[in-house]
Amino acid sequence: MNNKPLDTLIIGGGMITNDQLLPSIYHLQRLGVVGEITICALNSAPLQALADNAELRAAFPGQKFTALPALTTPPDKMFPDLFKDALAKLRPHQAVVVAVPDWFHYPIILEALRHEQHVLSVKPLVLEYQQDVAIEHLALEKGLFVGVEYHKRFDRRALQAKRFYAEGRFGKFIMGEAKLHEPYYYRHSNFQNWFTCDKTDPFTYVGCHYVDLVYFITGLKPVAVSVDGVRGKFPNGKEAFLWSSGRVRYENGALLTVTDGLGYPDDAAGSNDQGMIMYCEGQNRSGMIHHDDHERGIRYAFLEPSGAARYRYVSPDYFRLVPWEGDGAKPVGYGYDSVAASLQTMQRIEATCDNLAARQKIIREIDAAGIIATPANSFINELVVEAARQSILADGALVKIHYGKNPHVEKTNG
Ligand SMILES: NC(=O)c1ccc[n+]([C@@H]2O[C@H](COP(=O)([O-])OP(=O)(O)OC[C@H]3O[C@@H](n4cnc5c(N)ncnc54)[C@H](O)[C@@H]3O)[C@@H](O)[C@H]2O)c1
Repeated sequence: MNNKPLDTLIIGGGMITNDQLLPSIYHLQRLGVVGEITICALNSAPLQALADNAELRAAFPGQKFTALPALTTPPDKMFPDLFKDALAKLRPHQAVVVAVPDWFHYPIILEALRHEQHVLSVKPLVLEYQQDVAIEHLALEKGLFVGVEYHKRFDRRALQAKRFYAEGRFGKFIMGEAKLHEPYYYRHSNFQNWFTCDKTDPFTYVGCHYVDLVYFITGLKPVAVSVDGVRGKFPNGKEAFLWSSGRVRYENGALLTVTDGLGYPDDAAGSNDQGMIMYCEGQNRSGMIHHDDHERGIRYAFLEPSGAARYRYVSPDYFRLVPWEGDGAKPVGYGYDSVAASLQTMQRIEATCDNLAARQKIIREIDAAGIIATPANSFINELVVEAARQSILADGALVKIHYGKNPHVEKTNG
């Protein structure tokens, strides 16, 4: 195989780029999957923070990215359309990683596809089902890969549960609870500027991880959604749903309750609170899948606080930079595995396909395998998010999801 590195443009230089995407992509650059790295943000401030990040500098000595706008640009000068120039300058069939606020994914992904680029988008891909379909069709027509970064799919416990579920070892999912509460300090972050009631909510932001995971494990389609929220104010006065409680009904009658929020105490040990329990039914007995996803058995008491607390549950499973046999440190965890899976797929397509039909064949195989989330195999998430947004803005009204030739959501009076 002629495995050439793909130049990679990350659009968005915020928290997820700092915590997961850039360190993963730096490591993939070492491995010859990624070539030149460019990061485009709205202004230079987050890019300067990325360039100054001491942990990243120590882990990836000598590795750099090109900043757009340049780091010398005044931090308060905004460049909302600079990503278009960056896309236009990228050679065709390279990699674009989309890491901007949720509602902005759609126009950027379309623009990237129109410029003949493969795409990896952070979750949720988009906020409406028809947008998912438009992306799927355009990408397939052009033979371009689009992956959605639902990294929990790459957690070994999720992969194992998927296998055992398929083997019938738990029975059929019937009743479950999931939760993901992010720390309180998020309220002081850039979230204040975009996490507003009209745009998103905790269910859409993080609940979607567990909605995707239950589908990933069981293959059951959600048929109705109801989400209620608790409104509050960010320090800058903007109103947001700071807590949410959602309920999803599945095609077999199963129910999943999902609670989320931006309110896990900063001084508590977990750094956040997350996990799920799924009860299943078999022949005259029940089965269960129980994942405690924030306390994975490691507890440290540091000399100085890590975050706000000295005593911490530490999960090495999502993303950590650890010593390795090379210089600096390397990323480990399902956060890295997930990014690597999509970028390696793009490289494989480029290395093995010399015509459109061959590209389309690989893309359809990835859709069918259902491991990497794609627009075609994770579209239920867009239906659920679309339903959830309608529901939370209507005080928890029940929103049904219809499948068939024309999948769509329908708000009821309930
Ligand atoms: N667990 C997860 O999967 C996870 C975790 C965090 C965030 N996310 C997702 O990642 C996305 C970004 O979240 P975040 O926490 O990094 O947000 P953030 O607010 O920290 O960063 C957003 C970035 O987008 C950039 N941006 C905004 N408009 C732009 C434009 N016109 N051109 C170029 N850049 C622009 C900003 O400069 C900023 O760097 C969201 O969709 C979020 O849902 C996923």
